[in-house]
Amino acid sequence: MTHENIQPEAQAILEPAGTRVRDPRTGRSLWMAGVLSEGTLTEDTLQVTMQFHPDHTDTQMQVMQQSLLQQINAIGWKGNVECSITVEETAEPVENTKKASEPVRGMSGGGMGPHGGPIQKQKLEGVKHIIAVASGKGGVGKSTVSVNLAVALAKQGHKVGLIDADVHGPSLPMMMKVSATPIANDDRKIVPIVSYGVKCISMGLLVDKDEPIIWRGPMVMGVIRQFFQTVAWGELDYLIVDLPPGTGDAQLTMVQAVDLSGAVIVTTPQAIAVQDAIRGVEMFKKLEVPILGIVENMSFLTLPDGSLVHPFGQGGGFETSLRYKVPLLAQLPLDERIRLGGDMGTPVALSDEDCSKAFVDIAKTIHEHSED
Ligand SMILES: Nc1ncnc2c1ncn2[C@@H]1O[C@H](COP(=O)(O)OP(=O)(O)O)[C@@H](O)[C@H]1O
Ligand SMILES: [Mg+2]
Repeated sequence: MTHENIQPEAQAILEPAGTRVRDPRTGRSLWMAGVLSEGTLTEDTLQVTMQFHPDHTDTQMQVMQQSLLQQINAIGWKGNVECSITVEETAEPVENTKKASEPVRGMSGGGMGPHGGPIQKQKLEGVKHIIAVASGKGGVGKSTVSVNLAVALAKQGHKVGLIDADVHGPSLPMMMKVSATPIANDDRKIVPIVSYGVKCISMGLLVDKDEPIIWRGPMVMGVIRQFFQTVAWGELDYLIVDLPPGTGDAQLTMVQAVDLSGAVIVTTPQAIAVQDAIRGVEMFKKLEVPILGIVENMSFLTLPDGSLVHPFGQGGGFETSLRYKVPLLAQLPLDERIRLGGDMGTPVALSDEDCSKAFVDIAKTIHEHSED
């Protein structure tokens, strides 16, 4: 039994929903027990086929069906659901190498047991390290750090990919100066666009740049999964993932979908950003993703007379790094050249400007701490 008749878009809804409902016959989740045999998603309708076994009683079938519908609703799908049922001898559990008693990463916070069956994490073949760049708050410089880190690693001779996972507010096309629409190769995988030696993918490359992306959570999750699984990344030393702000569905999906090497947390020194950054750190800790370090952005501004001022306060990133005993990777200046680099699509890390050095140092530190 496989999930081959479940479309990836439908899987983004059916896997989390089906994982939370138990099949009493096998003791596994509907997802892992192979009860969900077909799934397709059109704009407003999710079609699912539940394949029961002749040993299931009518009541069991009804309860499983109702629970599945509740879970589909609970994870945010508000469209129609058409659920059909078949009863066949052949419904068999999906092959699974993990024991059912293992906790489900991402669903197991606080030592809770699995809600159904374990979620299978995908190893990305050929990709050595996947690094998420995250923050609790938007506008703190996550994309700036992601882009410059990617470029700095590439400049140091590594093979680098960059995923812009901020589906609602993609900034990679502008910051990396890419506009070409990616095409599919013979294996029906999307070929990433290369800019400054970095392989790039972003929702902004797949839709019209002025078109608002008004999608529900499950669709966003589907796209993020596809960025990992249906892009032809080839051999990479580092795949950097620029996450959207917050600790919601997109972040969870990402952590559940792939084996992350670690996360870099970006914050400004001000209290409100630090508070949100702490939430981010806590989330990754709970999901057992190592924190590679904190980047404090917009830490200081150098005035023309050479003196330093701190428009966003002082010490927030440093205190967070002490509190969690993780490295403070950098304190970046508030500098017009960094902003211009983003707006012009020429990341400052490409240049020999003094403010590019900090990004080069972050890249070196990350590389030194990554195992080959
Ligand atoms: N250190 C910095 N100095 C000057 N401008 C910066 C700096 N860091 C980020 N910016 C600018 O601030 C804005 C928000 O940064 P961005 O990286 O898009 O944040 P996020 O991805 O966290 O929302 C961008 O216009 C960017 O160019
Ligand atoms: Mg951003």
